[in-house]
Amino acid sequence: MAQKENVHIAPAEGKLAVLIPGIGAVSTTFIAGVEAVKRGFAKPIGSLTQLSTIRLGKRTDNRSPLIKDFVPLAGLNDLVFGGWDIFEDNAYEAAAHAKVLDPADLEKVREPLEKIRPMKAVFDQDYVRRLHGPNVKDHGTKMDKAEMLMEDIDIFRKNNNADRLIMIWCASTEVFHKPASVHQTLKDFECGLMKNDPEIAPSQIYAYAALKSGVPFANGAPNLTTDTPALLELARERSVPICGKDFKTGQTFMKTLIAPGLKARMLGLSGWFSTNILGNRDGEVLEDPGSFKTKEETKLSALEHILQPSLYPDLYKDVYHAVRINYYPPRGDAKEGWDNIDIFGWMGYPMQIKVNFLCRDSILAAPLVLDLVLFLDLAQRAGMRGIQEWLSFYFKGPMTAPGLYPEHDIFIQLMKLKNTLRWMQGEDLITHLGLEYYD
Ligand SMILES: NC(=O)c1ccc[n+]([C@@H]2O[C@H](COP(=O)([O-])OP(=O)(O)OC[C@H]3O[C@@H](n4cnc5c(N)ncnc54)[C@H](O)[C@@H]3O)[C@@H](O)[C@H]2O)c1
Repeated sequence: MAQKENVHIAPAEGKLAVLIPGIGAVSTTFIAGVEAVKRGFAKPIGSLTQLSTIRLGKRTDNRSPLIKDFVPLAGLNDLVFGGWDIFEDNAYEAAAHAKVLDPADLEKVREPLEKIRPMKAVFDQDYVRRLHGPNVKDHGTKMDKAEMLMEDIDIFRKNNNADRLIMIWCASTEVFHKPASVHQTLKDFECGLMKNDPEIAPSQIYAYAALKSGVPFANGAPNLTTDTPALLELARERSVPICGKDFKTGQTFMKTLIAPGLKARMLGLSGWFSTNILGNRDGEVLEDPGSFKTKEETKLSALEHILQPSLYPDLYKDVYHAVRINYYPPRGDAKEGWDNIDIFGWMGYPMQIKVNFLCRDSILAAPLVLDLVLFLDLAQRAGMRGIQEWLSFYFKGPMTAPGLYPEHDIFIQLMKLKNTLRWMQGEDLITHLGLEYYD
């Protein structure tokens, strides 16, 4: 079949630098995994860009290339890593501290990890109350700090001979804040940076520095960050793609699998109680009610949007939904989540579903980081700017255009992602109508 005119995508030539605020459990597991895959010690399980195929044309055409052969993505050998943290530990030490990976696995990638030494972080104790670290930029206004970050980016680019860069926030969850007046326009925001406005969070200073430098930005945590008119304005002005927020990994991943299924069958829901224990540094930060509130918002919103109680009041009007997270050090990064789901069926008869997910948070998050880095870079080379809704698949709280409700159903998200790739390459979109097979 003749291909349609497709989007022009610049080739993925040269080095792609991945700059990460937060050299902690997720980011070191991601980097260690990429280095292990490059050396043939591991497989990139969980990564769409590395493992998934994409069907093209009709079911009878038998065309299902790997995504990485279909769209021009940067190769793993072209990635170089850098980042910032409030602790001075190099990535090997930070990974050893996080205890996600077995020492024997970590040892095999010790050399590349040891070379990654975090740059001095932009940090504010009011936004992450439980952590104290020495490796911080401790003088100047917020604008000065943004400029120092831009200088870090520039130096990293030069030292590593990088052609392109991506920034992805893997640092701690910041305390809950709503957009304030300083976030309304870029001008207000820049004024606020100069005046040290307390409503500007560190993550927003990183995002500002990235966007100003023309670097795409992804937000793996639930903090507001780029979800403000001012930073959206900057992303569009600089033609830079952005996406967020909060990696969809453990319990919310399960929730967005189960809830669309219940709704598809028109089964009712009266309550959903989710509780977790986890013992890593993320769990410790989330013990603070301010940081937990930020997380709670993204975790709670998914169900509401999937179930659409205003369209289905008989089924979902009075859902009691609660989410708890408890810090429990013995478990480290191996989180355990329990879900009690009270549903009802024909004639209102009640039933229950129990889910007990013994997961590994960073093992689930690492492939998402890889995909986001590669897809954001692709988006930039394809001239796409602003919010990348097709990457909602990866997030608990997907960013959308103002006024548009987010799509949380993971299967709709996946279809949107793959159709975006088909659209980029001028292939027919897949609607699953399929009438042509029965003509
Ligand atoms: N692992 C998952 O499944 C998952 C899912 C969704 C979201 N997240 C989010 O991803 C983030 C990272 O998770 P993690 O388990 O790696 O946490 P972590 O605590 O191991 O790592 C975060 C690191 O960020 C550093 N940090 C804090 N503020 C900083 C700043 N301003 N600048 C630079 N560094 C800073 C901390 O010192 C820490 O080393 C968290 O916000 C978490 O909520 C993780």
